[in-house]
Amino acid sequence: MKGTVYLVGAGPGPADLITLRGAECLRRADVVVYDFLAERALALASERAERICVGKRAGAHCLPQAEINRLLVTLALEGKQVVRLKGGDPFIFGRGGEEADALVEAGIPFDVVPGVTSAVAVPGAAGIPLTDRRCSSSVAFVTGHEDPTREGSRIAWDRLATGVDTLVFLMGVRTLPAIVRQLLLHGRAPKTPGAVIASGTRSDETVVTGTLETILEEVARHPISPPAITVVGRVVALRERLGRVARARSGGPVAAVAGRSRGRPVRTRAGRGWPTGPRTLREGSALEHTTARRIGGARKAPHAGG
Ligand SMILES: C[S@@+](CC[C@H](N)C(=O)[O-])C[C@H]1O[C@@H](n2cnc3c(N)ncnc32)[C@H](O)[C@@H]1O
Repeated sequence: MKGTVYLVGAGPGPADLITLRGAECLRRADVVVYDFLAERALALASERAERICVGKRAGAHCLPQAEINRLLVTLALEGKQVVRLKGGDPFIFGRGGEEADALVEAGIPFDVVPGVTSAVAVPGAAGIPLTDRRCSSSVAFVTGHEDPTREGSRIAWDRLATGVDTLVFLMGVRTLPAIVRQLLLHGRAPKTPGAVIASGTRSDETVVTGTLETILEEVARHPISPPAITVVGRVVALRERLGRVARARSGGPVAAVAGRSRGRPVRTRAGRGWPTGPRTLREGSALEHTTARRIGGARKAPHAGG
């Protein structure tokens, strides 16, 4: 009898951000085929389960996609209950659709267990709501994997740059300069706030903030490593208030000002209360603060500042 393949989203990193259903699938699995970014949830699999790493770390794929597809089919044909464990949600830049397609093609029963996508969770945990009716009514998830200057890019930069309030780029560390260039070229305001969040939701989370005109400089001064997500839009300014409170509650840093914050306390004058003025802030965040006040005053002008 054929086994079933469960395409399970592991969430953005910490094992406790997987869903209850995903955890149950892991407990029952005979074999878990996993990516690097999903490895923390492996602890939830039973000891008897075979664990197969198929890779997927920036620039280092262990196994080509076609072979991963074949492996899933083969294991299911052996009658095994297979969990295909993927970071975040399997269908957000996860090639889960291609794997499901291969299973359909081979007549293998499968189920999809959605996961908490890093596209939403990473900004959220860093104090950046992707929508907020004061300043963002739309959000787009964009791959940074595609070279924006490539001939025949599928990304409609001319419409994306000013047509969506909040832009979330995944896999875009290497291509950040090209992303910024495209957004500015297609009319996004240079003072639009931006944040690059590396290892979000984890204890080693790092956040670099600035604006479209300063973010590259900030990242050059405070290098970050994948995995990272870039958020562009006025919602980033909300982090100045929300990020601090979220962190204080979770026992993390009490403030995340200046161009960067790490997963350890950063105590500043601003960290002991609400900012009282730009002098309590540093570097790129002075601008965040200015923008946040503008939002508070409900003087929204689409894309004027993000
Ligand atoms: C191949 S995509 C997979 C996305 C995944 N399916 C999801 O829904 O989160 C990998 C990208 O997700 C983002 N990512 C995943 N986990 C992250 C984390 N903890 N912090 C920051 N970015 C993360 C990064 O942009 C990374 O390059």
